[in-house]
Amino acid sequence: MKDELPAPEFDAARYVRPTQKWICGNAAEGKVCRIGPDARGHCRADFECSPRRGIPSKDESPDRYYCTRQPEVCDAGPLPDGTCSCSIPKCQPTRSLRSQRILVTVFVVALTAGVLLLLLGGDARHSFVNPGALSIQHSGATFAQAREKLGLSGSQTQQECAACHKPAEAGFQRWAGAAFGANPGPFDFKRLASAGAPETSPIDAACMRCHDQYRFHQPNVDREISCSVCHQEHHGHKPMKAPDGRNCAACHANEAVMEAAFQFGKDMPPENFDYRPSLGRVQFKPPRPTRGYTKVFHSFADHPEFQVRTNGLKDPDTLKFNHQRHFAEDIPPLNGGAKLECASCHQPDAAGAYHLKISYQQHCQACHSLQFDLENPKLLIPHGSSEAVRSFLQSLPTQYADYGARVKGITAKGELEEFVRQSLGAIRGQILAGENPEDKVFFSAQGWGARMAEDRPGTQRPLFNGCVKCHEVKPAAYAAAPAITAPVIPDRWQIRASFNHVRHNQIDCAKCHEAARSRETSDIILPSKIVCAECHSPRGGVTHDCSLCHGYHTRTRTTPDSLEILRKAAAPPDN
Ligand code: HEC
Ligand code: HEC
Ligand code: HEC
Ligand code: HEC
Ligand code: HEC
Ligand code: HEC
Ligand code: HEC
Ligand code: HEC
Ligand code: HEC
Ligand code: HEC
Repeated sequence: MKDELPAPEFDAARYVRPTQKWICGNAAEGKVCRIGPDARGHCRADFECSPRRGIPSKDESPDRYYCTRQPEVCDAGPLPDGTCSCSIPKCQPTRSLRSQRILVTVFVVALTAGVLLLLLGGDARHSFVNPGALSIQHSGATFAQAREKLGLSGSQTQQECAACHKPAEAGFQRWAGAAFGANPGPFDFKRLASAGAPETSPIDAACMRCHDQYRFHQPNVDREISCSVCHQEHHGHKPMKAPDGRNCAACHANEAVMEAAFQFGKDMPPENFDYRPSLGRVQFKPPRPTRGYTKVFHSFADHPEFQVRTNGLKDPDTLKFNHQRHFAEDIPPLNGGAKLECASCHQPDAAGAYHLKISYQQHCQACHSLQFDLENPKLLIPHGSSEAVRSFLQSLPTQYADYGARVKGITAKGELEEFVRQSLGAIRGQILAGENPEDKVFFSAQGWGARMAEDRPGTQRPLFNGCVKCHEVKPAAYAAAPAITAPVIPDRWQIRASFNHVRHNQIDCAKCHEAARSRETSDIILPSKIVCAECHSPRGGVTHDCSLCHGYHTRTRTTPDSLEILRKAAAPPDN
């Protein structure tokens, strides 16, 4: 685009490329873009201009980008990373008048030939009207199976086309009829030239017969756009091209569309937007902002800051944990002798994309064991159910007898009884100091026992603690055990986007997570968008296409509202 900037006196409204085959889809509104479609009718629009860096000798700052459009420099100006802030929504190029005339001629000739072929019969007629080979996905055996389920009639080739083009089922005559009955019709040049972004059509309804789960984006989108904007067919016998994220800007950069969505969605119950399947994972679900997610932006450069940051969201979990404290000097090395590091507690899952769940046994017990008797350190209070803890404490004599036999190897009955008597006496006197054992084990925030520094010089071990050290513990009603509020540690924090740690394993964890400075569980230590944009930007050189981080289809949820819209928009006319 850089090399093709027109002269300043250029009048864009008159630029209709009369001799070219395709003209810009926005031509009728006088909003043609400068670059125009390519020879095969694909829209090439991206941004209004290519900003350039300033030249110091001209009183401009060398670090800023300047708009290159003369004389109508836009108000917003280029974004800090040099992307133009005026992206151009892709259009659906239309044929130029000249090309349409040619088509009509070809069409009449083709119709004549078609009638001939019809008379001759046979399936050759389908390849005759076929504008390009179908993708691998829509021509293989899997497709044939799916097609059979639809129970289409007609010859095999007829069925091949009829899977998407309903009229083909009835043969070429009906199809031609459908073309003439279409709205706008084939000779309705004026309206054809002014057609805007394609809305849903009967072909889309056909797509949905097989791809039922790929209907919708958000429940408050008041006008769905055609599948073919993002997934294009007839472009050759190869895999379909991945959707271009720039199509997202058709709505996300359009203030009117987003405002309409806000108006449409503002009275919808919030559950309509809660469509993501949990797949057994704990999802962190932030409250829905007042205006939903309808901010207007053009690319990742002016993409909104993430909600955890803008809304200062807090983790409501009741587990007590202080990251910073666990990196202090006095924290003992773990079993192998290594200092605590992120990976001591956060082990990557099989794919390396996210991390496995934290567990008390694997990640805390080594230091915070539920010992309570220093003399018999292997006697542990069971972790988990408070009922189990309570029965353990109520059966202490049996527990000691068992411990004596199992761990100490005492076999003589008298000796075992003596061991139990002595141990119980010792803990009553020294450890419980007259307290009720239950109160101590559940509620004592004061540690007891001894810091075991001898075996690991220079380090300290946490004292034994009550459950309340790590948990919210509520006194129980009469005769029941105290209630521990079970911790809820989310497995996914940013459910509206995907992430993958493997692709980022060359980067220090601390670049994205300021864990070493976080003292409270309630902190959500996730990075700002600015960190991502260091790489995911034109300057950083890594792709920043919307579909790198986001999906489009909601898959599972079909709200009554959106179903209704779709039914209206895509109801196949009877042809
Ligand atoms: C997987 C679905 C699918 C199948 C199968 C399919 N098409 Fe298409 N076809 C499309 C889509 C989608 C378009 C519209 C492209 C657009 O609007 O950009 C289209 C457009 C066309 C057009 C251009 C006219 C128009 O309506 O815009 C013709 C002609 C056509 N197809 C013929 C065929 C023939 C012949 C077959 C059988 C060999 C066939 N198609 C099979 C999806 C399909
Ligand atoms: C008769 C059933 C049928 C119809 C109609 C149909 N598809 Fe498909 N489509 C399939 C099948 C089956 C596959 C998977 C092929 C495979 O896995 O080899 C597929 C694959 C796809 C894929 C790629 C999935 C991937 O894994 O990469 C896209 C995108 C897609 N279809 C979109 C469409 C669109 C858009 C339409 C309408 C124009 C459409 N399909 C119409 C059956 C259909
Ligand atoms: C037809 C218009 C339209 C198109 C096209 C569109 N969006 Fe959206 N999108 C919306 C609307 C409206 C909302 C606001 C939903 C709300 O208020 O929660 C939204 C919200 C979102 C959200 C945040 C809400 C959530 O729960 O995920 C993401 C992420 C998103 N879109 C990504 C995309 C991507 C990626 C594309 C391109 C592949 C895209 N959108 C294309 C209309 C659109
Ligand atoms: C002793 C175990 C332990 C170590 C070591 C540890 N974490 Fe955590 N981490 C936790 C626990 C427990 C949670 C859940 C409680 C919470 O939210 O604070 C957590 C939560 C997190 C979360 C989720 C988001 C959040 O704010 O809750 C991130 C991100 C995280 N840790 C990063 C790190 C990084 C980076 C390191 C290394 C610098 C690290 N952690 C070291 C135990 C640990
Ligand atoms: C490029 C930035 C980046 C780097 C580097 C990074 N993370 Fe993350 N991390 C994220 C983002 C973004 C999320 C939020 C993903 C989600 O849960 O939706 C996350 C989530 C997490 C979570 C909570 C979700 C989960 O995976 O269980 C933990 C724990 C975590 N990171 C630990 C680490 C550790 C340990 C390292 C270093 C080995 C690390 N991260 C490196 C960006 C990063
Ligand atoms: C390598 C040993 C080690 C591991 C593993 C460990 N801690 Fe700690 N933790 C300590 C030490 C030492 C202290 C400081 C002494 C104390 O408070 O008793 C401490 C303190 C704490 C405190 C009190 C923090 C404060 O701000 O006073 C909590 C709560 C805690 N740890 C929870 C956990 C949880 C939950 C886990 C497992 C996810 C865990 N710790 C894993 C050694 C460890
Ligand atoms: C050093 C911190 C620590 C101490 C002390 C502690 N817990 Fe936990 N507890 C955890 C962590 C971390 C989890 C979450 C991970 C897990 O389930 O293993 C947890 C989970 C739980 C759960 C929920 C289990 C589930 O399946 O949802 C219960 C119940 C529980 N603890 C009870 C207790 C009781 C009773 C005590 C006292 C006898 C206690 N905890 C002492 C750290 C601790
Ligand atoms: C590098 C990854 C990345 C790229 C590229 C990206 N996003 Fe996002 N986006 C995110 C993350 C992370 C969030 C926060 C998700 C959450 O909080 O659950 C987000 C949030 C959003 C939201 C909700 C915004 C709000 O108001 O809170 C929308 C809408 C959205 N993205 C759409 C898009 C569109 C459209 C594009 C392409 C122009 C895009 N995103 C590109 C990562 C990305
Ligand atoms: C130091 C550079 C760097 C930073 C910082 C960075 N990324 Fe990336 N990211 C990459 C590279 C390189 C890839 C691989 C790109 C590819 O495969 O084309 C990638 C890939 C991704 C992917 C695709 C993962 C997949 O499944 O293939 C997502 C999503 C993503 N990044 C999100 C983020 C988010 C969100 C942030 C900020 C929290 C971030 N990145 C920060 C370099 C970075
Ligand atoms: C605004 C662009 C957009 C529109 C419109 C759109 N899609 Fe998609 N589609 C995407 C993106 C992006 C993905 C990949 C991410 C995902 O799975 O959500 C996708 C994925 C798919 C897949 C699965 C491909 C795979 O790799 O798994 C199918 C099938 C599909 N779409 C069918 C449809 C059908 C049918 C329609 C029309 C009802 C449609 N799409 C409309 C953007 C779009």
